[in-house]
Amino acid sequence: MPALLALHDVSYARARQRPGPAGFRLKEINLQIEAGDFCGILGANGSGKSTLARLCCGLYLPDSGEVIVEGYSTRQEENRRRIRRVVGLAFQNPDNQFVAETVAAETAFGLENLGVPPAEIRRRLREVLDRFDLGHLAGTPPHRLSGGEKRRLSLAALWVLRPRVLLLDEPLSMLDPGSKKKICGLLQELRREGTALLWFTPAFAEVARADHLLVLEAGKAVWQGRPGEFWGEVEKANRWGIELPPVYEIAAGICQSSPPPVASEEEFVSWLWK
Ligand SMILES: Nc1ncnc2c1ncn2[C@@H]1O[C@H](COP(=O)(O)OP(=O)(O)OP(=O)(O)O)[C@@H](O)[C@H]1O
Ligand SMILES: [Mg+2]
Repeated sequence: MPALLALHDVSYARARQRPGPAGFRLKEINLQIEAGDFCGILGANGSGKSTLARLCCGLYLPDSGEVIVEGYSTRQEENRRRIRRVVGLAFQNPDNQFVAETVAAETAFGLENLGVPPAEIRRRLREVLDRFDLGHLAGTPPHRLSGGEKRRLSLAALWVLRPRVLLLDEPLSMLDPGSKKKICGLLQELRREGTALLWFTPAFAEVARADHLLVLEAGKAVWQGRPGEFWGEVEKANRWGIELPPVYEIAAGICQSSPPPVASEEEFVSWLWK
């Protein structure tokens, strides 16, 4: 069985394919994602997260190396349609993802493209609008939505196609705490149902429960491991530009000699009780 998503020595130089400042390079990235995996890609602004996300779904093609989805390379034009059904990219800025006039049309767009019969589209639309709490906004233009609603729509429009991997480019950025909680809950639900998550972020707390982490620094994979092992590297987080959990910063202030590995309020509270 081929891996769901595999990157083999993927390199990419920005200047060769796009205008703009020369010099940025992703270098020899290796990664493997299986069904239901939760993988966090950590890195500062400009480290290459969005570029890597675009490579993973075939929006960009590597200069060298291969991105393979269920055994099919993103290089071959004839594989693109198949790959788009397996891997869905939630853009960093949801506005860049929207193509339709209303929430309902946006959600139905992918299904219409696939030629799904109208009755089935209506059924799936009801289901997805309900799940992502967008039913009351079905007729609203996407650009009028709030940040949290836009994020839910960007995920709904992908999930309606049942991708096996979701690429999440900073899915919690610019959301208030309530919206963050809602989106996290939805994403964890999708994961429990078997969708693999590849979550790109500068904030360790968001991916502290991932199966696997990869740290990008200026286009290079400088560290890979499990979240539990990340604490051993915590003094490098500043250099890598990775945001540590606020509760960790507090705990480190209390216990400077050996700060405890706490990523959530629950972990912090149980550490305090010990
Ligand atoms: N269209 C473009 N043309 C040229 N260079 C670009 C383009 N888009 C991004 N870059 C450069 O590529 C590098 C990596 O950018 P990328 O957007 O992948 O980083 P990122 O980790 O997603 O950053 P952020 O956290 O700010 O979203 C940066 O140096 C950036 O300036
Ligand atoms: Mg980005």
